[in-house]
Amino acid sequence: MNDSNNIAIVSGASSGIGRAVAEQLTKEGVTTVLFDINLEHAQEAASQLNAAGGQALAYQVDISDEHQVTKAIDRLVDEVGVPNMVCNSAAIQQYGRTENSSFDDWRRLINVNLNGTYFMCKASLPSLVQTQGSLVNIASLAGKIGLPYDVAYSASKGGVIAMTKALAKEYADRNVRINAIAPGAVDTPMYATEIPDDINPKVLGVIPRSARAASSPEEIASLIVYLLKDAPAPMTGSIVSIDGASN
Ligand SMILES: NC(=O)c1ccc[n+]([C@@H]2O[C@H](COP(=O)([O-])OP(=O)(O)OC[C@H]3O[C@@H](n4cnc5c(N)ncnc54)[C@H](O)[C@@H]3O)[C@@H](O)[C@H]2O)c1
Repeated sequence: MNDSNNIAIVSGASSGIGRAVAEQLTKEGVTTVLFDINLEHAQEAASQLNAAGGQALAYQVDISDEHQVTKAIDRLVDEVGVPNMVCNSAAIQQYGRTENSSFDDWRRLINVNLNGTYFMCKASLPSLVQTQGSLVNIASLAGKIGLPYDVAYSASKGGVIAMTKALAKEYADRNVRINAIAPGAVDTPMYATEIPDDINPKVLGVIPRSARAASSPEEIASLIVYLLKDAPAPMTGSIVSIDGASN
């Protein structure tokens, strides 16, 4: 059992931005529980963080399954302690022409990115109220401006933005800070998601691109860790863009 006030949950923590957040938190002495649908990858990541002197545990959780999320958070409270930081990074991406997509494609994406983020918020908020902790959701530039061939993803991230603002208002009187970040391109496996050939490159050209290269996951993680640990009390309900001025 660890001290509360030094325990974080990071979803999607075996890859990309979530992995970088887990690394920075463990370096700063935070016991970090890695939630990921891919247990093997989460265990590998946790072993590496522990070998580097951190304290990390891996739990297999499909965030789109409310029962798995609540069970995992109950287990964490029993085994580790009451978490005071939550970063919701797990998400999926799929590009395509809307008329060629199926309702199953839409539902799969909304189930993970929007419903899953809601399940994680809902299940962790009692702990965050108890510890007066903080939560960071990862939205996206897509959720602010809407990206072509990326309709379900854009809708899911727009939902995450609105949900974050609503939750921040609801929980401000209980001293829980709730923010989201909206990254532009970030150099992770998700950024390499295949874009089908049957698209109009002119339309794709409307996507604003930063003059600089894609951000690194570590650059994004440093903002998230600041929001989780160090931001002042009035910093809640903010949607912080980190997109190299592409927005
Ligand atoms: N990479 C970008 O360009 C970019 C830009 C803006 C926002 N984002 C957002 O940043 C966050 C992190 O993305 P990333 O680029 O690190 O992606 P990534 O694909 O590298 O990592 C996503 C992680 O989430 C996990 N995951 C997927 N579905 C899950 C589920 N149902 N339950 C639990 N875990 C699940 C995966 O196993 C993986 O470890 C996402 O919310 C993404 O939408 C990424």
